[in-house]
Amino acid sequence: MPITAPPGSAAADAAAAALAARDAVREQIARVWVGPSETVDLLFTALLARGHVLLEGVPGIAKTTLVKAFAATLGCAMRRIQFTPDLLPADITGTTILDQRTQEFVMRQGPLFSNVVLGDEINRAPAKTQSALLEAMQELQVTVDGRSMPLSRPFIVLATQNPVEHEGVYLLPEAQLDRFMFKITLGYPTPDAERRFLAAYSRPVPDVTPVLDPVTILHLQSAAEQVYIDPELIDYIVRLAGATRAHPRVRVGASPRAGLLLMMAAKVFAFVSGRDFVLPDDIRALLPYVFAHRMLLHPEAELEGQSPDAVLSELVARLPFTTSVGAQ
Ligand SMILES: Nc1ncnc2c1ncn2[C@@H]1O[C@H](COP(=O)(O)OP(=O)(O)O)[C@@H](O)[C@H]1O
Ligand SMILES: [Mg+2]
Repeated sequence: MPITAPPGSAAADAAAAALAARDAVREQIARVWVGPSETVDLLFTALLARGHVLLEGVPGIAKTTLVKAFAATLGCAMRRIQFTPDLLPADITGTTILDQRTQEFVMRQGPLFSNVVLGDEINRAPAKTQSALLEAMQELQVTVDGRSMPLSRPFIVLATQNPVEHEGVYLLPEAQLDRFMFKITLGYPTPDAERRFLAAYSRPVPDVTPVLDPVTILHLQSAAEQVYIDPELIDYIVRLAGATRAHPRVRVGASPRAGLLLMMAAKVFAFVSGRDFVLPDDIRALLPYVFAHRMLLHPEAELEGQSPDAVLSELVARLPFTTSVGAQ
């Protein structure tokens, strides 16, 4: 049975620091973005779980505003890449150039060499450039002219994309989507939120103050990994993943990587909620953000208006979690 970290212990200190950091990030982002704090919490969870995030929404819904504000709170080196159809892999990885003075080849590092990479409108880039990003996200390294170089830590990609119905966008291949821990769909604001942001709007846009730094982030990342997950909950994740693959309306279910990312995210979610053990609710809360974008439905199911989210709700209802962990 998990034992909650005693007050004053290193684990309890780290959890308190994570909670304070999350609140500070929420507060800073609220200066420039009006929206649900749960969205900010998901970004924060991905950061501590070493995951990457894809934000999807129609143009003008403040995707760029949100990721820029979040990145600014982190106190890390940050670069923004505006993806366009003519963007080449070397534009993001960098390239080796001949130094005229010394007659030596030197590396000119591209924007991937930073802690936080904002990949804006990522699905406007051709496949080759996307795969350079993919290598960076998965391997934490890039290859330039045959030479592999490690990237800095922490490393997080915050990407945005417009829905596929929009013109000039390439469909992100499944393999690319699978690299993102979360996909978050930003919907239209409520009328109240929209009124608030219009009323509060001012130029110049207020500054967002950094509330974290690379060393603190790395420390919080390793502390979050110590969160306890009961074998029964691991089994729950495995059953959920398996059920997506076996579902009659699903053509491609959640990958094994999906289950792994869900477990890591659930640990962080527990951690920033002040717990040192995972509850079934952590898993259920994150499930749609981790699994839905990796699932492909059969075309008939899509025509009927079915969605991966609906399948996941059905599975959560069908696969109850009932053991001592859930009951405590
Ligand atoms: N919820 C919101 N909170 C704050 N600003 C918003 C919100 N929705 C839209 N805006 C404003 O609308 C404009 C468009 O936002 P932007 O981030 O460029 O959208 P996107 O990247 O989704 O196209 C910005 O000036 C932004 O400040
Ligand atoms: Mg934008």
